[in-house]
Amino acid sequence: MGVKRVAVIGAGVSGLGAIKCCLEEGLEPTCFEKRSDIGGLWKYEEILKSGNPGIYKSLTCNTSKEMTAFSDYPVPDHYPNYMHNSKMMEYLRMYAGHFGLMKHIQFQTKVCSIKKRPDFSSSGQWDVVVEAKETQKTYIFDGIMVCSGYYTEKYFPLQDFEGISKFQGSCLHSWEYKHPDDFVGKRVAVIGLGNSGADVAVEISRVAEQVFLSTRQGAWIWNRVWDHGNPMDATLFTRYNRMVQKVCPRYLINRQMEKKLNARFNHANYGLLPQQRILDQRTVLSDDLPNRIIIGKVKIKPNVKAFTSTSAIFEDGTEENIDVVIFATGYTLSFPFLSDDSGVLDSQYSMFKYVFPPELEKPTLAFIGLLQPVGAIIPTSELQSRWVVRVFTGLNTLPSRSAMMADINRKNQTKAKDSKKGLKDSRRVLFIDYMDEIASELGVKPNLLSLLLWDTKLAKEVFCGPCTSYQYRLQGPGKWAGARAAILTQRERMLKPLRTRVIKQSRLSHLFWVKSVCVVVFFFISILVIMHITNH
Ligand SMILES: Cc1cc2nc3c(=O)[nH]c(=O)nc-3n(C[C@H](O)[C@H](O)[C@H](O)COP(=O)(O)OP(=O)(O)OC[C@H]3O[C@@H](n4cnc5c(N)ncnc54)[C@H](O)[C@@H]3O)c2cc1C
Ligand SMILES: *[C@@H]1O[C@H](CO)[C@@H](O)[C@H](O)[C@H]1NC(C)=O
Ligand SMILES: *[C@@H]1O[C@H](CO)[C@@H](O)[C@H](O)[C@H]1NC(C)=O
Repeated sequence: MGVKRVAVIGAGVSGLGAIKCCLEEGLEPTCFEKRSDIGGLWKYEEILKSGNPGIYKSLTCNTSKEMTAFSDYPVPDHYPNYMHNSKMMEYLRMYAGHFGLMKHIQFQTKVCSIKKRPDFSSSGQWDVVVEAKETQKTYIFDGIMVCSGYYTEKYFPLQDFEGISKFQGSCLHSWEYKHPDDFVGKRVAVIGLGNSGADVAVEISRVAEQVFLSTRQGAWIWNRVWDHGNPMDATLFTRYNRMVQKVCPRYLINRQMEKKLNARFNHANYGLLPQQRILDQRTVLSDDLPNRIIIGKVKIKPNVKAFTSTSAIFEDGTEENIDVVIFATGYTLSFPFLSDDSGVLDSQYSMFKYVFPPELEKPTLAFIGLLQPVGAIIPTSELQSRWVVRVFTGLNTLPSRSAMMADINRKNQTKAKDSKKGLKDSRRVLFIDYMDEIASELGVKPNLLSLLLWDTKLAKEVFCGPCTSYQYRLQGPGKWAGARAAILTQRERMLKPLRTRVIKQSRLSHLFWVKSVCVVVFFFISILVIMHITNH
């Protein structure tokens, strides 16, 4: 197949990974980025621009650095486990520099449309219209990787709220929220308890007079700092835990995890307990929410029934005076550059493994990072890109259209069951399962059995340790010589940033001696007792 020139739309984390994968397989990538810098969502900008991702100044990763890293480029060992957005940008700049990605990116260039060429059924080529400095240009590309993200088109369901047009205070979407300065002394209602809603409510509550956090469903609240102070995802997302989850009955796991989270604070007492069981719910991560609730700065409220000119009336009949409403109601998917005639628009929610639209005569269009892993996005979107470039070059082939549709329908049925339980998100995938699925297509899924025979130490860390992306560089195409070392040193990199005041180990070794002496004494007493008994 002749795919050579590839257009990458967007230079966020997905786009950067896509450029790198193209270069790895000998393709010629051209990345179009409408902003003037890389990073996408992680690039903080004070000034809002419609259609750009928007984040608040304090945004900090909710996935830990070892779980978030690209598979052949670990985050520097001294970086904190949960990076602030500026640190994440530093990491992305280092990555782009290391692999020479910058020269393939055209900044301030917006992709306006992509259309199949007239001879698409034989060539698989696309016409790509881009706009830079108010002039348009058309390019021909053999393949397209869409990495445009989905946190730009805000979901702002104002029509659902009676009386909002009469409300005289200010009213904004969490996309517009930058820092808490504007809310000093105010009474603020935050609508929606997702990750953003929780973050915004907590932050504003430090300066506001009162914050009301309104949630229809409630949520289970997780925290970054897990047992022994280790990062939550690095502790829980292991192959061992995934195996236990698969063999244990679901209700047992639910009960176990709910018990664990309720031990931190009782979700019913705090007004947060959702209807759904924990495995059927999106994760909401907030270290501080219970701290703000217990000191009364954040009050949890049910859904808003209606707004008056100065207040919000909640479904339980209570009414509170408010000055500001912030809608943390999320985002909707949109691809303004996809023209209707390309035949992919209808299928944007039903793509083969969330990547390839199944209807195209040639598999030369791919969507990267359009899913919501229960975990970090970089490792999943990077694996997608590794797979896509191999399909583009013909080294891997896709199944027939009917086989792809069958796979999509099978998954759609499981999703339909999930949504009955209340999980509406059709793009949610399980982190390890999804990565293994794509890795199997590529032939890079770690082979535990052979590892167990040839490298027991590594096998143990791959199975029991955090399921980091380096595992997918141990074998097969794209193998990285540093992968083994990266896996065996990942726990050291987690501890390194914490060792800013080194504790002498003498106390610990003292305990060690006490324990050893106890064991020896116990052993001798046992022998004496046994000899005593046998003598009689
Ligand atoms: C508040 C928040 C916190 C998050 N925290 C985490 C986290 O801790 N860990 C994690 O793994 N994930 C997190 N996520 C998920 C996040 O979406 C991903 O981490 C990641 O940033 C997505 O990257 P992306 O490259 O796919 O998209 P984006 O980062 O959105 O990048 C898309 C890029 O494409 C450009 N673009 C779009 N359209 C065009 C066009 N027509 N022409 C040219 N350029 C275009 C945009 O300008 C942008 O630069 C978070 C999301 C949000 C909203
Ligand atoms: C991190 O935050 C994003 C954006 O709110 C969310 O989609 C994702 O599920 C969160 N991840 C975890 C592990 O909580
Ligand atoms: C998936 O299932 C839902 C109903 O469960 C249906 O409305 C939808 O059309 C299905 N999508 C596909 C692509 O089959």
